[in-house]
Amino acid sequence: MPDTSGYAFDNTSERAGSRYDVLESTYDPVTFARLAELGVAPGMRCLEVGAGAGSVAAWLAERVGPDGSVLATDIEPRWLGELPAAGNVRVVRHDITQEDLPEGRFDLIHARLVLLHLPERQAALDRMVRALRPGGRLVLDEFDCGWVPVLSAPSPESAELFERMHDAVMGVLTRAGADIRWGLHAYGALRATGLAEVASATWAEAWVGGSRGIRLHQVNIRDVGGQLTGDGLTDDDLERCLRLLDDPSFAVNSYPLITTWGRRR
Ligand SMILES: C[S@@+](CC[C@H](N)C(=O)[O-])C[C@H]1O[C@@H](n2cnc3c(N)ncnc32)[C@H](O)[C@@H]1O
Repeated sequence: MPDTSGYAFDNTSERAGSRYDVLESTYDPVTFARLAELGVAPGMRCLEVGAGAGSVAAWLAERVGPDGSVLATDIEPRWLGELPAAGNVRVVRHDITQEDLPEGRFDLIHARLVLLHLPERQAALDRMVRALRPGGRLVLDEFDCGWVPVLSAPSPESAELFERMHDAVMGVLTRAGADIRWGLHAYGALRATGLAEVASATWAEAWVGGSRGIRLHQVNIRDVGGQLTGDGLTDDDLERCLRLLDDPSFAVNSYPLITTWGRRR
């Protein structure tokens, strides 16, 4: 199936694997704690949209047990191959912007860092809401990519280099239809769908050069690097920025993960 989704990052090569690695190791503990607090329990029917490499779907499968079920979807499901071994997981190639879901079916629908990328996020959101059973819960984990302050840098020039590079990467995503501040906009969007009990919480930490989380910037810069030089950045700037991200004297705030949830009436 052709990829019509607007997703600007690579989701097929080893680089996608590295991205999933960073996302899972950094954000899974936050996602799992929130989902546990929201009451994911044995017997529930769950949908994980844009499941990536499947860590959240695997956690849900464990949590809901043999009487529950998990449907894990992605437009590129090649990273989800081992999930069906869990017995209660089904993996489906599915484009959330274009293809229907069973309506009124799920107790819990979760997506992390999917709608941010998609120009047709409203249609996707409406489809997810319709797929909830009455009383079922939608939980979105999204970034506000507009708040990534540099916390320390070896020089003012290096801080400025990071900021220019980050703006350029965000420019690539925005031109592909992403809403890079969607984490902030999700709360209002969930309320507008008519969901009840809409709430939200935000998590962030400092990312030091060379640490686990900051690798996300390196993966992203390498991924869209060919499109950045049009923004006045040279190949040398790219290389200097990649080295800066390995320098322990550099630190930047992580992307804040904003979790927003609500219940179908
Ligand atoms: C940034 S990754 C996040 C992966 C995973 N949710 C995580 O947080 O670890 C975004 C995922 O959304 C998937 N995706 C992009 N467009 C999609 C669409 N239209 N429908 C379903 N999945 C999509 C990508 O293939 C990718 O796996």
